[in-house]
Amino acid sequence: MARAPVSKTKVRYVCRECGATAPKWLGKCPDCGAWNALEEEAAEVGTRFGRFASAGENKPVSLTHDTGEVDGRISTGIGELDRVLGGGIVPGSVVLVGGDPGIGKSTLMLQTCHRLARDGGRVLYVSGEESFDQTRMRARRLGALADELMIFTETQVAPVREEIDRGQYEFVVIDSIQSMYAPRLPSTPGSVAQVRECAEELFRAAKVLKVPTFLVGHVTKDGAIAGPRVLEHMVDTVLYFEGDGHQNLRMLRAVKNRFGSTNEIGVFEMTDHGLEEVPNPSSTFLGERPRGTSGSVVASIMEGTRPLLVELQALVSRSVLTVPRRTVTGVSANRVNLILAVLEKRAGLRLSDKDVFVNVAGGVRVDEPAADLAIAVAVASSVSEVPVDPELAVFGEIGLAGEVRSVGQAGKRVAEAGKLGFRKCVLPRGSALRGVSNGIETLLVSRVRDALEIALEK
Ligand code: TYD
Ligand code: MG
Repeated sequence: MARAPVSKTKVRYVCRECGATAPKWLGKCPDCGAWNALEEEAAEVGTRFGRFASAGENKPVSLTHDTGEVDGRISTGIGELDRVLGGGIVPGSVVLVGGDPGIGKSTLMLQTCHRLARDGGRVLYVSGEESFDQTRMRARRLGALADELMIFTETQVAPVREEIDRGQYEFVVIDSIQSMYAPRLPSTPGSVAQVRECAEELFRAAKVLKVPTFLVGHVTKDGAIAGPRVLEHMVDTVLYFEGDGHQNLRMLRAVKNRFGSTNEIGVFEMTDHGLEEVPNPSSTFLGERPRGTSGSVVASIMEGTRPLLVELQALVSRSVLTVPRRTVTGVSANRVNLILAVLEKRAGLRLSDKDVFVNVAGGVRVDEPAADLAIAVAVASSVSEVPVDPELAVFGEIGLAGEVRSVGQAGKRVAEAGKLGFRKCVLPRGSALRGVSNGIETLLVSRVRDALEIALEK
């Protein structure tokens, strides 16, 4: 298929020596200092700024105009991925798959490519980080060898664009966008300028040819991603692939989706033959927790804009010390002391002669007051030696008067618990809940005492 027609052209000047550009002619290149090296070139204004191809004259069109196009989503053959995408891949969409190095992005992409290639589509997997042999070895281990799955080990964006422009592919993966570069830019691969330039180029190819394209992007721990962050506004969908800190569970979440909701998560398990879907995460998730043991409860907390379920554990035992021990990991020690005081004063628990250990399972750190209620329930459960219902999740902030205070995003928290198979949720009466999701039973409480009664009923 032909390239995007350029609706309007403008002239710019490009240095023959170093590729630097200037809006007007100069005798000396401002970058490399070469004399008489600037050459006139047509700048593709239409495609540089207008991101969609327009055939001939571009003009406004009524929204009700029928273009004959249908929402023909393509199933990836991986249910959990389809779900997160909002029901499959939208033709011509550009999806960014972000995540820590080693989390399994390449594995997920290779498996997806294999399914699509096996179902008859020709797939282009651009590997900028691993050699053909490495990719082939991995694919063999994953059972992902397919004739129609083409591996292109290339890091320059122009040949990749040319290959896509040949119009033979139904799906393209770029692994990773940080490894791609355009030699005409002076900056190094992985820099913001390079990542943006290469992504723009690939974005245009995807839109013009209507080839769905997945861009893999590495993320660093604090989310300060040289690449992906600058791309988030540009692409249609942003997926994050992350681990849960322990075990081999992997969660795929949409943080932006122009074609679906961002509430869905996909859950996978990393095995020695690749990623396996976990269609019912609750069993896996609950399977890790001690069953029938007191002192463990699940809290629904928010991590930024995303809900996360964590297991809070407490162990309370008689102390032989004059000053009983308070050992806390994963939550603030001050917060735990406050909650212990409230439990003692407002719920009649005797703790002053006991050692208390509080821990968040899996090495997660929780800074949210919404975890208060779960800490209280875990401690009370350990004291009374009554296990908490394993299908119950809890959240809410605790005040000094023993009241349970509302926290934000209650709906998202409840929905996450429902998604992961929990059947009941204890939450603050004051929290605004719009609609009950996933058939989960919501139990509203306004005092800590009430919450303990519900959570510890035998
Ligand atoms: P990878 O997909 O290379 O991660 P990314 O592309 O996000 O950097 O996955 C790397 C890890 O996954 C690696 O530590 C090994 C593990 N792994 C398995 O456990 N089983 C497998 O079948 C594969 C292919 C990888
Ligand atoms: Mg990789």
